[in-house]
Amino acid sequence: LQKVGLVGWRGMVGSVLMQRMQEEGDFDLIQPVFFTTSQKGQAAPQFGGKDCGLLEDAFDIDTLKALDVIITCQGGDYTKEVYPKLRAAGWDGYWIDAASSLRMADDAIIVLDPVNLNVIENGIKTGIKTYVGGNCTVSLMLLALGGLFEKGLVEWVAPQTYQAASGAGAQNMRELISQMGAIHANVKDKLDNPASAILEIDQQVAEFIRSDEYPKAQFGAPLAGSLIPYIDSQLESGQSREEWKAQVEANKIMGTSAAPVPVDGLCVRVGAMRCHSQAITIKLKQDLPVAEIEQILAAHNEWVKVIPNEREASMQELTPAKVTGTLSIPVGRIRKLTMGPEYISAFTVGDQLLWGAAEPLRRMLRILLK
Ligand code: HSE
Repeated sequence: LQKVGLVGWRGMVGSVLMQRMQEEGDFDLIQPVFFTTSQKGQAAPQFGGKDCGLLEDAFDIDTLKALDVIITCQGGDYTKEVYPKLRAAGWDGYWIDAASSLRMADDAIIVLDPVNLNVIENGIKTGIKTYVGGNCTVSLMLLALGGLFEKGLVEWVAPQTYQAASGAGAQNMRELISQMGAIHANVKDKLDNPASAILEIDQQVAEFIRSDEYPKAQFGAPLAGSLIPYIDSQLESGQSREEWKAQVEANKIMGTSAAPVPVDGLCVRVGAMRCHSQAITIKLKQDLPVAEIEQILAAHNEWVKVIPNEREASMQELTPAKVTGTLSIPVGRIRKLTMGPEYISAFTVGDQLLWGAAEPLRRMLRILLK
């Protein structure tokens, strides 16, 4: 059995990864070694019913060097500190990473095997040892639109995102719920009285969410009752870093960086828990009937699900509430836009912690174990 080191398994993405690895029986196929940044020597967890001894030190290069594969969800700072030392020490194992630090490195491949299994397999053959999960919105968009990309039908894509709190971290998810509760608590008396005036309630809510009493330490601005039209840091291009990732990562995943398909739009944080949604404008290279577009999308992978462009189906099937906690990638609202017959709209939803983060990593491990 291959020795597989697991780092950052206790965090949010790591916990989802452990859950999925148990569900799929991945632990039966490996000899897991659990690492910690602070609790070396304590008992390791027993995922998949395996006794894994004690926790090892995640910064101990000699211990890490003994592994065949390392999967880390510990974050970018850990990667930046440990990865170069480990490679400098001559370690030649496979590094599978959830963090973005190594994504754009020439000797790293971004993994999303339903879309780029050929790129991954070619990487393994040519000796690439570093495999990194993509940005969540990019991976979710490619799973939804993979069919059109695969057939070379896309001239450009403009995704406008509706990103969940989970993408900002566990503390942010907690804060979103606190914000919701705080708003309700602030106007509960008036709300309970059917005779109270809605504009008075609205006024009180507005004053409250602008006040210092509203909990917003994590997001830095109100999210519940509002939204935040900027994600990640500011770049000179006018894009946010999240927006910049769309084109460079999507094309790197597909192996089309030499002649990239333009992918650009605005990224917005909304008050969803862990599903990112995207309203997408697509310019196709040719005028195709909607039914054919739907067929192409539906045939691409086993998780994408075309939702008919009907009101009731869209309201029930195409929402974060429906998709959360599942691997399903519904895509709907597919229609021709008035700009012309090659201009198509679509709306898609995906779980940011599953396909957006953990799932591509465990599938990469499975590919290595074949
Ligand atoms: N950067 C994403 C977000 C999550 O803030 O929603 C990680 O890919």
